[in-house]
Amino acid sequence: MQLSTKHLLGIKDLSPKDISLILSTAQQFKEVLQRPVKKVPSLRDVTIVNLFYENSTRTRISFELAEKRLGADTINFAASASSVKKGETLLDTVNNILSMKVDMVVMRHSASGAPHFLAKHLPNTGIVNAGDGINEHPTQALLDAFSITEKTGGLEGKKILLIGDIMHSRVALSNIYLLNKMGAEVMLSGPPTLIPPYIKEAMGVQVEYDLKKALKWCDVANVLRIQLERQNQVLFSSLREYNLSYGVTKKLLQEVDKDIVIMHPGPINRGVEIDSDVADGNQSIILQQVENGVAVRMAALYLLAGTAN
Ligand code: CP
Repeated sequence: MQLSTKHLLGIKDLSPKDISLILSTAQQFKEVLQRPVKKVPSLRDVTIVNLFYENSTRTRISFELAEKRLGADTINFAASASSVKKGETLLDTVNNILSMKVDMVVMRHSASGAPHFLAKHLPNTGIVNAGDGINEHPTQALLDAFSITEKTGGLEGKKILLIGDIMHSRVALSNIYLLNKMGAEVMLSGPPTLIPPYIKEAMGVQVEYDLKKALKWCDVANVLRIQLERQNQVLFSSLREYNLSYGVTKKLLQEVDKDIVIMHPGPINRGVEIDSDVADGNQSIILQQVENGVAVRMAALYLLAGTAN
């Protein structure tokens, strides 16, 4: 089976069949990753450049590890240490890299639409979006879906709550697209200033500003970071106030008294959107999400390479 697309730009472009294929392939790769020899030669002779124009810990390491586990040749590019600093454009940079016979580009960029721009100009190179501005972070949503499925048995009919800075979160948008396509119910909770007013109707989600009520409703709560670097005006009074109203704390979970699965895409701001005893507690699957990211990215790269041939 093949994906219906040769680029992975966003969940918006994937069909439910594509998503199921990536998730089932990731399950096979997760089994490979449990073996003493964790490598397969599926992408031998494929060269992939990881082009990171914005900081990353999890996504960057996870893609590099996924590529190495698949036997691909990998090149890591950090814009901060490149000729981008001398004024070279994105397209010139990528064309120069591709002239060295690179097959696929994994790109993170602070500008929404940057990977779409590359895909338009380089239709014969597989482009993978590793997070673009406030638009999408498709592999994060896929690893979140894989982790929910692993923990709860599936996505269909599950009640998933996204908490926090929905307005600036590419993780939220990709999760909403994916969960809607796969038959889950989605609710958003957070300060009214961080939830776009049109989102309820536009995306078919529920909105509940009272976090305790929202937590009582859900099976899974995915807690999001406040994206201070993407906010050009003050949208809530203080981080302390935010923690009091929208922080997921042990006391709040005790009051809700429900076995909710707690997720967070990272990086965590401990004591702001989530307290340490929740992030590190036994309801949390945060580190399993990170672990699953490698298998999910192996699946995405493997399937995209097959689509390109
Ligand atoms: N979840 C995530 O995208 O983390 P990084 O920014 O560290 O890659």
